[in-house]
Amino acid sequence: MKQAQTYLLSILRNANTPRNLFRATAHKLTECLAMETFEHIKLKKVEIETALAKTTGLEVAQRIIIVPILRSGITMVDPFLQFFPDALVGVVGLKRDEKTAVAHWYYENIPELHKDDQIIVVDPMIATGGTGYETLKMLKSKNANMETLLYVSMVSAPEGIKVIKDAFAQTTIITASTDSHLNDKKFIVPGLGDFGDRYFGTE
Ligand code: URA
Repeated sequence: MKQAQTYLLSILRNANTPRNLFRATAHKLTECLAMETFEHIKLKKVEIETALAKTTGLEVAQRIIIVPILRSGITMVDPFLQFFPDALVGVVGLKRDEKTAVAHWYYENIPELHKDDQIIVVDPMIATGGTGYETLKMLKSKNANMETLLYVSMVSAPEGIKVIKDAFAQTTIITASTDSHLNDKKFIVPGLGDFGDRYFGTE
């Protein structure tokens, strides 16, 4: 699974990858990451009748709440819904100031949370960790179970992971790659550039 992720990430990292391929590859990589979340979520055994016999299978045993951080996080919602078609989606709007890299709130719409909900925050890039930190702080204040919460990203910087882990040690981060560092503009190196600009075509 990791090799598939690295293969897909190589396409995303390439600055010459055209937008249509970038989008399709981002969706595929997100599907791989969604599959990885199955190692962490609660499943229950169910009896199934195939055409030939009875057997046992697995079913998702808890409410799944996907929380995309706008704007790039919305690109990961559909691939996740392929695996969790009943999931609720709670949206968070945080924008990083390009100059100061400080995150500002502009939108929030989260369903009422229960301790046995499985929350999956989706955010393609963990750079400074500022938006992630603010999102997790808000979710915690709304009763989120931080021990089971999953934070899913495509590329992360060690600096951002540290910010999140220092504040929310129990939270599991699933990422296709932890890269080298942030540059002076707070971009991940080697990274893949500005994910949102490349996906939405706003370069
Ligand atoms: N956001 C991006 O899209 N890319 C980075 O390198 C950092 C934050």
